[in-house]
Amino acid sequence: MNVDAVMLGAVGGPKWDNVPRDVRPEAGLLKLRKEMDLFANLRPSTCMPALAAASSLKEEVVSGLDVMLVRELTAGTYFGQPRGMQMWEGKERCIDTQSYTVDEIERVVRAAFELAMKRSKKLHSVDKANVMETGVLWRRVATQVSVDFPDVELHHMYADNCAMQLVRWPKQFDVIVTDNLFGDILSDCAAMLSGSLGMLPSASLGAADSSGRRKAMYEPVHGSAPDIAGQSKANPLATILSFAMCLRYSFDMVEDADMLEAACANVLDAGYRTGDIMQPGMMLVSTQEMGEQVCLELDKLAA
Ligand SMILES: NC(=O)c1ccc[n+]([C@@H]2O[C@H](COP(=O)([O-])OP(=O)(O)OC[C@H]3O[C@@H](n4cnc5c(N)ncnc54)[C@H](O)[C@@H]3O)[C@@H](O)[C@H]2O)c1
Repeated sequence: MNVDAVMLGAVGGPKWDNVPRDVRPEAGLLKLRKEMDLFANLRPSTCMPALAAASSLKEEVVSGLDVMLVRELTAGTYFGQPRGMQMWEGKERCIDTQSYTVDEIERVVRAAFELAMKRSKKLHSVDKANVMETGVLWRRVATQVSVDFPDVELHHMYADNCAMQLVRWPKQFDVIVTDNLFGDILSDCAAMLSGSLGMLPSASLGAADSSGRRKAMYEPVHGSAPDIAGQSKANPLATILSFAMCLRYSFDMVEDADMLEAACANVLDAGYRTGDIMQPGMMLVSTQEMGEQVCLELDKLAA
């Protein structure tokens, strides 16, 4: 595909529930990820101070939180072979296979180190090296890659401990890198620290070309929210913040990305809320009004 970046709106819905899986809109999404070879899924979990009181955790635990979870997206348990159902000693059994090559681990860990270099130079690599062979390999490769990034502090952590630490004291983390399966679970856990699905952006990055530019796709974490479709209730901030990630990672327009993120934070500070993040005393606005407020803030910041 001859583009550097794709900005994707959520797809899918009940209308397609009864059509075969391979022709549902979500199948197109998987095809895009596969064809662009998007192996690193970046899921930021930030908690803007204005929303800290709305979290299910204590305000001091989440306020100002800024964690980036990097999930390997194209290998591991969801793709490993053999998989499926078979008869074994006269009974049905099902198999999924966790499989990683050195290259599959190295490229995502390297992308995470590069990210850590641009942030606070701290990286947690998460595995289950105590009970899984792929975990042993993951840890070995992460340690080898760390030699190329002497300025980054590397910590290894078991996935179960990481889940506990994310709800105990998430601010100990800056960048976390982990495999597809653990990343699926831990990224949702980290995501809820920031309050609502409607606030969560994401980026998926592919391999760097000779100029160092990575193919990338940006999208909100949430789906098409069919239960509120057409009612102007959806929070547009996850999509707007996904575009801020696009400016930052695909176009190196760091100042514009900062400005867009600041505009979103200012709108929340001013008390505007869509229904999903509504709190007592705040102003309930529609999708369109929230978008307009962000544009007004951008005008002010750019003046
Ligand atoms: N990347 C994608 O395109 C993507 C991702 C996930 C799900 N989906 C598809 O979306 C459809 C619905 O899936 P689902 O219901 O499991 O997940 P969903 O994320 O669409 O909705 C889950 C809940 O969160 C709420 N929600 C989601 N986004 C919101 C927003 N911006 N503002 C306020 N509330 C929001 C919804 O109203 C709903 O109650 C399915 O067809 C699914 O396959 C698509």
